Amino acid sequence: MNLTHPLNRSEFGRIEDIGNVMSLSQAMDLLNSWVKNEKLIFHMQQVGHLMKAFAAEKGYDEFTQRLWHLSGLLHDADWDQWPDDHCRKIIEELESRNQDPRMIKAIASHGPRYFGVDPETEMDKMLYAFDELSGFVHAYSLMRPERYEGMEIKGVKKRLKDKGFAAQVSREDIADASQRAGVQLEDLIQFVIDNQLRA
Ligand SMILES: [Fe+2]
Ligand SMILES: [Fe+2]
Repeated sequence: MNLTHPLNRSEFGRIEDIGNVMSLSQAMDLLNSWVKNEKLIFHMQQVGHLMKAFAAEKGYDEFTQRLWHLSGLLHDADWDQWPDDHCRKIIEELESRNQDPRMIKAIASHGPRYFGVDPETEMDKMLYAFDELSGFVHAYSLMRPERYEGMEIKGVKKRLKDKGFAAQVSREDIADASQRAGVQLEDLIQFVIDNQLRA
């Protein structure tokens, strides 16, 4: 979820804070105090879960998996209360808590068309890619009686072509994110089907 409000910044966090990432329970405390919308919390949990699963599949260490997990988990934390300040507010909060600059940068670049910050690292790019696609596949699962059971790539792609379905999800962003990440759209969709946190 993004509005067009450029951050007008290119540096996020401080280098000396590399390695400093809050615990999962601290992140959940932050979400529970900032976000009343349960669907939004679930969206962030889904994106966080995909990020963690991707980092795990890549064989990254536990710390790196948490870095990826929390980038996803916190990326829309300010959307509920401060949509006009999304994602400036969460960036400033994480900076004030001396959090790892790589996590802050990933959050800052999760909507390049809106925030004016390009995803550069693999973590930045995967957050951008999973964000819209996770929500889209979730919406698709809700209209299938069997939910994720038997869900296929071609079914997801058919819905992507149907402009009336989940119209708020930007097809342009999904295509752009897949291209920037250098991952085939089909592979991304399959990863989301296999690893999405279920409702
Ligand atoms: Fe967002
Ligand atoms: Fe999001």
